[in-house]
Amino acid sequence: MAVAQAAALIRAGKLVAFPTETVYGLGADAADDRAVAAVFEAKGRPRFNPLIVHVAGREEAEALAAFDDRGRRLADRFWPGPLTLVLPRAPDSPVSLLASAGLDTLALRWPAHPLAAALIRAVGRPLVGPSANRSGRLSPTTAAHATAELGRHAAMVLDGGSCRLGLESTVIGLGEGLPVLLRPGALSVEAIESETGPLVEPALTVGEAARPSPGMLLRHYAPNSPLRMAAESALPGEAMLGFGALSGDLNLSPSADLAEAAANLFAMLRQLDGRGGIAVAPIPERNLGRAINDRLRRAALGSRKPTV
Ligand code: TXA
Ligand code: MG
Repeated sequence: MAVAQAAALIRAGKLVAFPTETVYGLGADAADDRAVAAVFEAKGRPRFNPLIVHVAGREEAEALAAFDDRGRRLADRFWPGPLTLVLPRAPDSPVSLLASAGLDTLALRWPAHPLAAALIRAVGRPLVGPSANRSGRLSPTTAAHATAELGRHAAMVLDGGSCRLGLESTVIGLGEGLPVLLRPGALSVEAIESETGPLVEPALTVGEAARPSPGMLLRHYAPNSPLRMAAESALPGEAMLGFGALSGDLNLSPSADLAEAAANLFAMLRQLDGRGGIAVAPIPERNLGRAINDRLRRAALGSRKPTV
């Protein structure tokens, strides 16, 4: 069975790409320093950018990091699901220090995809699982995309079809003070705020040094072609990615459904990549639209290739 084979490879220190409900992850044993180092190497990811540790249960999570009341409430309500909690690392946490990039916090997520949970349980240990793409590029939402990005580095790609949500998890920092939105994602800010009250939202424009999450690198999630947001129509040479009534070469959601648009975003950007440019129709700044616009803003920043 594929899950048992994947688990055996991970236990042997290898890397396996696996499906989650958000995007495909590049999995490795989170307690194995060499395997975690190989994940950074495969992705070309800067060592200062920590990885999310994936678990398949609350007890397992609470053994790795310190949950306060807010963390417990969020986990009760949204796990398993597309929410990552950044919490103080437990002093005896077995997770590789490299995985958390030397920080005294740990990012934890319990994914809802049945294959992801089955894999974590079969390995019997937490897994690091950054998105299975080269650093800075679009996250893969199908097994074929994961293979195209990192197939050379993965001993196996576990195929779970297309990812249901298509956007990465929402990352929330729970330290001292108010909860912080470290990355908008597939769980809407509105849903989280209904549990926690207002989140602090660090501005996209703060300097590198002041950025609270190393993952808030500006240019990221980027296709190769330059991208233009809030476009009413394509310029000569551009492909048009539509939304709602504003159609184009492809349409994120003809019925203007933000969940459908999120699920299509990365796959459609991949399809249109390689043209002179990609023009994207305006997306409303609410619910999942905020996460979609966050990815588009980062993709649109400059047309240079990522340097990190
Ligand atoms: O949906 C997802 O979260 C996917 C699937 C595979 O689970 N994973 C994913 O991982 O997107 P990755 O590594 O591509 O993104 C992790 C994000 C980065 O922005 C990283 O900087 C942030 O989480 N992060 C991880 N650990 C952190 C920590 N200790 N403090 C602050 N931010 C952290
Ligand atoms: Mg990523």
